[in-house]
Amino acid sequence: MNTYNDRFIKACFLEETDQIPVWFMRQAGRYQSAYRDIRSKYSIKEICKIPEICHKVTHLPVDQFNLDAAILFSDIMIPLEPMGVDFDYKPGIGPVIKEPVRSMKQIKSLIKVDVGYSLSYTGQTLNMLKDSLKVPCIGFIGAPFTLASYMIEGGPSKNYRHLKAFMYTQKDAWHLLMEKLTDLLIDYSLYQISSGASAMQIFDSWVGCLNRDDYKEYVLPYMKKITGAIKAHTSVPVILFGVQTQHLFSLIKEAGSDVIGVDWRSEIHNIWKNELNFEVAVQGNLDPCLLFADWPLIEKKAQEILERLDRPGFIFNLGHGILPGTPEDNVKRLAAFVQEYCIKV
Ligand code: CP3
Repeated sequence: MNTYNDRFIKACFLEETDQIPVWFMRQAGRYQSAYRDIRSKYSIKEICKIPEICHKVTHLPVDQFNLDAAILFSDIMIPLEPMGVDFDYKPGIGPVIKEPVRSMKQIKSLIKVDVGYSLSYTGQTLNMLKDSLKVPCIGFIGAPFTLASYMIEGGPSKNYRHLKAFMYTQKDAWHLLMEKLTDLLIDYSLYQISSGASAMQIFDSWVGCLNRDDYKEYVLPYMKKITGAIKAHTSVPVILFGVQTQHLFSLIKEAGSDVIGVDWRSEIHNIWKNELNFEVAVQGNLDPCLLFADWPLIEKKAQEILERLDRPGFIFNLGHGILPGTPEDNVKRLAAFVQEYCIKV
């Protein structure tokens, strides 16, 4: 394709498109042999911080599968480092924080980040991507809650005991932490957009562990502030995604994004109609594990989604990130299937 393909952006704004746009969360990753080759030479942090390598990795899936959007290769944890939060990626576990943050003193000493200086590699990569891509590039941030969950728990968690105990017992410290993260994430979002990101996805992956009252009190005001700032200063669409958020959709809608990502557990067509009144766009939600099935079942399940969501404002995606070990050929066939399904006579 020689011209710029903006059907993803149009769908974010509920506009009619020639085809249903398709991209995949975690589309650049270990399931790809080309990614594994690069990873054998560079750590995740190095890939994120060397613009030439990061540019190349971001391009891999878009070029391989002809997707309708790229997503910057980075990680939600990356902006925490200049704040003074030291972490490593442990194989098979995920991000692990050296010193979990559990006191007011630690929160007060978090460093105010100059994003254009400390995260300049992200800006440089996005600049390069803007020139080379023929599709929009999605920038992203982790939401304050999900980042706080790693900071306080020290890593992934099953029941978020430390996080919730902290929230319930050290309210002032919690709110100060959320304020500091919110300020950083607004600056970082605006920086990504001014460097070339055409959309912003906010990953609030783990917020589904909260009930509605807690979401309202401890999270929603900060989410509104972030989407409000992006809306006030730019015209790019905002996507909000979390897993196990079935009970939160009406509140997530209040947070003010243009698109809501739906995980694979939810009935996306019912959520769109009954919880969201078709007022925002939706993105999702094939179970990433289905990509380990044989093609006829993948096709059947993808077709069901496409048939149930056939109206402007639907973006085809998985219901969470692509898993390591996923056959690349199934990813390729799925993207092609979505695109061919939509070529109507
Ligand atoms: O292609 C893309 O989607 C862009 C890249 C991307 C990464 N992380 C790279 C990465 C994105 C969008 C993220 C977001 C992210 N990171 C989230 C939100 C999305 C979600 O899955 O809910 C979360 C919770 C994280 C935290 C994180 N980083 C985890 C849990 C892990 C470990 C995953 C694992 O399987 O080991 C990481 C490391 C990480 N970030 C990898 C990648 C591709 C693993 C790669 C590797 O080892 O090479």
